[in-house]
Amino acid sequence: MSDIKAVIRHLPKCELHIHIEGSLEPELMFALARRNGITLPYDSVDALRRAYQFSQLQDFLDIYYQGMSVLITEQDFFDLAWAYLQRAQADNVKHVEMFFDPQGHTSRGVAFETVVAGLYRACRQAKESFGIDATMIMCFLRHLDEADAERTLDQALAHRDKIVGVGLDSSERGHPPSKFKNVFRRAGEAGFHLFAHAGEEGPADYVWEAIDVLGVERVDHGVRSLEDPVLVRRLARDRIPLTVCPLSNLKLGVVSKLADHPLQRMLDSDLVVTVNSDDPAYFGGYVGENYTAIQSALNLSEAEVRAVARNGFNAALMDDDERAKALAVFDTPPKKA
Ligand code: HPA
Ligand code: ZN
Repeated sequence: MSDIKAVIRHLPKCELHIHIEGSLEPELMFALARRNGITLPYDSVDALRRAYQFSQLQDFLDIYYQGMSVLITEQDFFDLAWAYLQRAQADNVKHVEMFFDPQGHTSRGVAFETVVAGLYRACRQAKESFGIDATMIMCFLRHLDEADAERTLDQALAHRDKIVGVGLDSSERGHPPSKFKNVFRRAGEAGFHLFAHAGEEGPADYVWEAIDVLGVERVDHGVRSLEDPVLVRRLARDRIPLTVCPLSNLKLGVVSKLADHPLQRMLDSDLVVTVNSDDPAYFGGYVGENYTAIQSALNLSEAEVRAVARNGFNAALMDDDERAKALAVFDTPPKKA
């Protein structure tokens, strides 16, 4: 193993952009389908994996919503999150903010409480077993209307102790952040932290709307921000973090090869760039693999890789003491073997 790969493996990491339903590996999908008496439209794990060919976000979303149909019981949601958290532990992830899509479940008749209870139990167990801080962010599906998001927020109010924030995901084109202005205002007033996907497939204007209309504190993806130099200066000046997901961008055709990925230019523009996995079961890699792949494609230096990991802790929802403790590890020179 080259030195830089070992550095990446040992770096403490945050994962700030992971859709927990996107960590559903085909093997677990088939096991849950069997447990729940559901027939999947694929004969085997291999046939399912072969279907993971996407040329744009919507191709992926169609399969992603179909995949989550096997999640029915509290135990299913626990098993899903627990499998991910064990994998995160192997990547030396210390802090996770996991997205989940309640409307993808309530629309199928699964109770909001069932989803939250299963995921939350796994988060608590990760703290006890691994010392990982794992928290939950509920996303609104932007292809649905704002009234549906409002009803989902109503359901979340009883779980303010378990859900730290709200986000915005699903089909970006044609669904600007401003469509959700009122529900985000109400979520902010209720004390939720605010996030939104913007500038993945959608234009830089959507990033402006996410920060100025919705008032988000972090932008998910945001890679198309580079098309607008005024926006780049604003994001850099206000230290608004971007949760970048290199393998996702590759698999969804946001970039045609990783060597063309804008992450280096984003770092050079003084943006607070973090690296994350998005939907690791579908895009071919967990967070460690995202670090390794982008480092190798762009030939990032060790200092740049360490800066990205550090950015994760600066971008995370942590109190000042926790953050100072986490960042102190980066100031200790690595031990020579
Ligand atoms: N983009 C938008 N919505 C999503 C994604 C994504 O990458 N993954 C799951 N929902
Ligand atoms: Zn995402």
